[in-house]
Amino acid sequence: MVDLLLKKNFKVIVIDNFSGGHEKNLHHHKKNTLLSVERTDILKLKNKSIFNDATFVFHFAGIGDIVPSIEKPIKYMNINVQGTINVLEMCRETNIKKFVYAASSSCYGLASTPTSEKNKISPLYPYALSKYFGEQSAFHWGKVYRIPINSIRIFNAYGTRVRTTGAYGAVFGVFFKQIIDNQPITIVGNGRQRRDFIYVTDLVNAFYLAAKTKDSGQIYNVGSGNPQSINKLVKLIGGNKIEYLPKRPGEPDCTWANISKIKKELNWRPKVSFEKGVKFMLKEIKNWENAPLWNKEKIDKATRTWFKYMSR
Ligand SMILES: NC(=O)c1ccc[n+]([C@@H]2O[C@H](COP(=O)([O-])OP(=O)(O)OC[C@H]3O[C@@H](n4cnc5c(N)ncnc54)[C@H](O)[C@@H]3O)[C@@H](O)[C@H]2O)c1
Repeated sequence: MVDLLLKKNFKVIVIDNFSGGHEKNLHHHKKNTLLSVERTDILKLKNKSIFNDATFVFHFAGIGDIVPSIEKPIKYMNINVQGTINVLEMCRETNIKKFVYAASSSCYGLASTPTSEKNKISPLYPYALSKYFGEQSAFHWGKVYRIPINSIRIFNAYGTRVRTTGAYGAVFGVFFKQIIDNQPITIVGNGRQRRDFIYVTDLVNAFYLAAKTKDSGQIYNVGSGNPQSINKLVKLIGGNKIEYLPKRPGEPDCTWANISKIKKELNWRPKVSFEKGVKFMLKEIKNWENAPLWNKEKIDKATRTWFKYMSR
């Protein structure tokens, strides 16, 4: 998002405590005077004037690892809900033109596919609930305090700078480290489950269009509309040693965004094919050299609580 906004000559203020993201992801802009970085926890925001001159606020800050949320629901509620409310509070007395919220498709639960914005809401675990409450809070603040809000429900975003926290999470980080260390790739279930992957540059274009549009109070699904199987991903990244893990309850067999709304209303289109996106990722595989290495035993341990509660 920062890359795109700086390219368009916006002045950008990044607010991040870097608990999950890396400041080094901004180093290529080090000499750009349009960028400033506030190392701040959104739960401790104090500078009421921080958005006074802002045109747009893009709210991405939060914790995104799904599995650990079952063990730490309060942490997720605090950061993803209360944190969002704190950011919204900073927007109250401003004239921002748009607040764009990074929502999650996990609010749909085990949805019928392709999934439209009108699908019923059914969060199945604390991360999903926290992101949905964050979205609801954004629209509530929008209504009460007249802040123009749009929300993007992200399906499976990926890009060369995805976080590598210690938590068991996003598939690329897990698989890439296993490849680097020549260890078996751990596939959950039979690998035929499909995910609607969307490359980061396409995603941020959607955020920009959702900020620029005159419309507000809108929810837009963003995925590629073309789900891909985990087995295909493994094939594309050249994994040959494979270890299969038990299918996880509560996780859909297929995520598939119906993207008609954003295509029609914001004239947005995904441009990076899955094959191309994976190629970009492989070029930067060294980024995962220091990522945690996951194996069956470690994953069994990390997902124990998940199975305990989600199997019922
Ligand atoms: N990546 C996806 O597929 C996906 C899907 C649905 C929704 N989302 C949402 O999009 C947003 C960005 O996701 P991402 O995958 O880029 O994750 P990310 O972890 O790379 O980005 C989140 C950023 O928030 C920062 N952060 C965390 N807690 C904070 C706090 N208390 N104060 C200030 N900053 C804090 C982290 O340091 C990190 O840089 C998240 O809100 C996530 O829930 C992502």
